[in-house]
Amino acid sequence: EQVPQPAGPLSGKRFVITAGPTREPIDPVRYISNHSSGKMGYAIARAAVAAGAEVTLVSGPVTLPAPEGVKVRSVVTAEDMLQASQQAVSEGCDVFIATAAVADYRPQTCAGDKIKKTNDEMSLSLVRNPDTLATIAARPDAPFTVGFAAETTDVARYAMDKMQRKKLQMIVANDVSTPGLGFNSDQNAVTVFWPNGQESIGPDSKQNIATRLVALIEEHSKKADK
Ligand code: CTP
Ligand code: CA
Repeated sequence: EQVPQPAGPLSGKRFVITAGPTREPIDPVRYISNHSSGKMGYAIARAAVAAGAEVTLVSGPVTLPAPEGVKVRSVVTAEDMLQASQQAVSEGCDVFIATAAVADYRPQTCAGDKIKKTNDEMSLSLVRNPDTLATIAARPDAPFTVGFAAETTDVARYAMDKMQRKKLQMIVANDVSTPGLGFNSDQNAVTVFWPNGQESIGPDSKQNIATRLVALIEEHSKKADK
């Protein structure tokens, strides 16, 4: 049920945010996934609601409670995430933020029965997953799109390259080589890039970083409105 949003600078703005990992099934009991906790995406959802936005979270499997005032669409696979995001954007979206750690590949087939061990070696055929963020950014009715880039080397170069390639308005670069920051942690440090500027935020709590990020998105999406 939709709780009335607090009045704020983002009143009337609709945000769609992807968060968490995806799971790509191998057989009925196994899957490929990653260590994403969803904390950054959920923190951004809370910050956007606090600023008055109407927020839909398209969330992979996480252990976090649904933030108050946020509509959560639960998904499992990368393909589900794309479908639920397209649906949510079609319902109306001003800002799309992709924080999810989407599995880049999925097993070509999911075995109907549990795979038994037989040989000393086994291999899985993997196929590329669809890119939710790039797909949303390529829509003719594309919202203001914000991506995340988790990198271990050449952080700025890779992040700016992703922003250009995926046609984003903003990208949040995360150096995941620093122990205790980023994946699964409550703390993070990021650098935000837009086409003609950048700002570093943190190290700080993910909630404080989210609040600053939402303020930057508000400022830059307002400019994009013309
Ligand atoms: N993303 C997405 N769908 C995918 C892959 C990524 O929506 N199938 C989004 C992520 O949520 C993130 C951004 O794209 O906002 C960048 O993700 P990242 O994994 O850093 O980039 P990739 O394009 O997958 O490139 P690579 O993993 O090879 O660095
Ligand atoms: Ca990737």
